[in-house]
Amino acid sequence: MSVQSILEKRRSVRHFDSTYTIRPEVLTSLIESASKSPNGNNIQATRYLIIDEPDLRRALLPIAFNQQQVTDASALVVMLGDYRAFEQDNIIKIHEEGFQAGFFDESLRDYLANAAIQYYATKSNEELKLELTRDVSLASMSFILLANEAGFETITMSGYNSAQLKTTLNISDRYLDVMLIAIGKSTKNGHQTVRHPVNKIMYRNTIASLL
Ligand SMILES: Cc1cc2nc3c(=O)[nH]c(=O)nc-3n(C[C@H](O)[C@H](O)[C@H](O)COP(=O)(O)O)c2cc1C
Repeated sequence: MSVQSILEKRRSVRHFDSTYTIRPEVLTSLIESASKSPNGNNIQATRYLIIDEPDLRRALLPIAFNQQQVTDASALVVMLGDYRAFEQDNIIKIHEEGFQAGFFDESLRDYLANAAIQYYATKSNEELKLELTRDVSLASMSFILLANEAGFETITMSGYNSAQLKTTLNISDRYLDVMLIAIGKSTKNGHQTVRHPVNKIMYRNTIASLL
């Protein structure tokens, strides 16, 4: 199916078959492909925490305002950004791997690594949070497209208490929780949703208000 068809057909699904299991290797393959998404300086900060343990899922239910997909979907993925990806060691290691793989020479390795280190060095916590949010969001959308291509449905969720989720799952402040994605087989189609006409969202050269 083309990306365009997937986007036209995809709906957020809120009713999942709780008896359906996704084989671990299928999830691994979706995540491996999603990891090919673009990401800032290729620091690869996105982490995918799969929650398939039923007791944990039940504990998360009230934390996610009793959204039934938390327990009924085949898997719940906590999409995380790792603040330690900004550290010099990680940046140098990734560029060294690219060099060892023959993807660029020594001078480009050093140039790219140094540029990335400089880029993050002066950023505030708020700016680093935005960097992680960008990268994790792009990977999330890839995961959603891949899941739909593989015959599954998904729903993205920000409707949960972040502090309680992190405590329950023992996620430290090293990680930023960006969103949850539930994945599985639907028992009820997601409702249709409208979108603005394209002329309301597309601008050329300026979006300055006339007021
Ligand atoms: C970041 C984000 C958070 C969302 N959180 C929730 C949520 O907590 N619960 C829910 O039922 N839907 C949630 N949604 C789904 C949106 O409501 C849905 O994408 C939107 O209404 C458009 O519908 P569609 O996805 O079926 O096209 C979320 C979507 C996004 C992108």
